Amino acid sequence: MRDPVESVYSHGITCSTQVDTELLAKGFAGCAEPGDVFLLSGLIGTGKSVFARALIQKLLEPFDPGAEIPSPTYTIVQTYHAGQVRIWHADLYRLKDTSELNELGFDEAFEADICLIEWPELLGTRAPACATRIHFQHINDKPESRLVKIDPGREEIRTAFFGGALLQ
Ligand SMILES: Nc1ncnc2c1ncn2[C@@H]1O[C@H](COP(=O)(O)OP(=O)(O)OP(=O)(O)O)[C@@H](O)[C@H]1O
Ligand SMILES: [Mg+2]
Repeated sequence: MRDPVESVYSHGITCSTQVDTELLAKGFAGCAEPGDVFLLSGLIGTGKSVFARALIQKLLEPFDPGAEIPSPTYTIVQTYHAGQVRIWHADLYRLKDTSELNELGFDEAFEADICLIEWPELLGTRAPACATRIHFQHINDKPESRLVKIDPGREEIRTAFFGGALLQ
């Protein structure tokens, strides 16, 4: 049987170091727009937060260079403002009940803001169909390498990815 992860994420790249993962994330920042949702999946310690932090820092650079991006593990959500654009960084690992998603305002955020969601499996059917899915995996015997699989959610992101713009 095909691994469900393999069948969704047909395109992958190897990030040999944390810096590679951060550069990839900054590439995504270049094409992120309000309404974009990035679902960041993968086991503990695979680099979801490293990726999210770098993407958010890049978006905040013109407004708040060097901004601290704390982990949302305990708060579930951290929000930021890049000018008029609101950014959500969520870690759903400790979500107790999916009804909390209503209270936190996720549905509105998916429409209007830029959202990065760790442990997106906990969204269940609320995960937007047009989200960009990014999956992180360890690579055997290479502690600093990650395989990053990408399923772009819209055409501009797909073009940027295949055009190599994300990797510069
Ligand atoms: N190529 C790489 N890309 C990203 N992180 C890397 C890489 N190589 C090593 N690391 C290390 O792996 C760890 C990734 O931690 P991170 O908090 O981003 O994981 P996570 O997927 O968010 O985990 P969690 O599920 O606990 O939130 C960091 O300590 C980072 O330094
Ligand atoms: Mg994390």
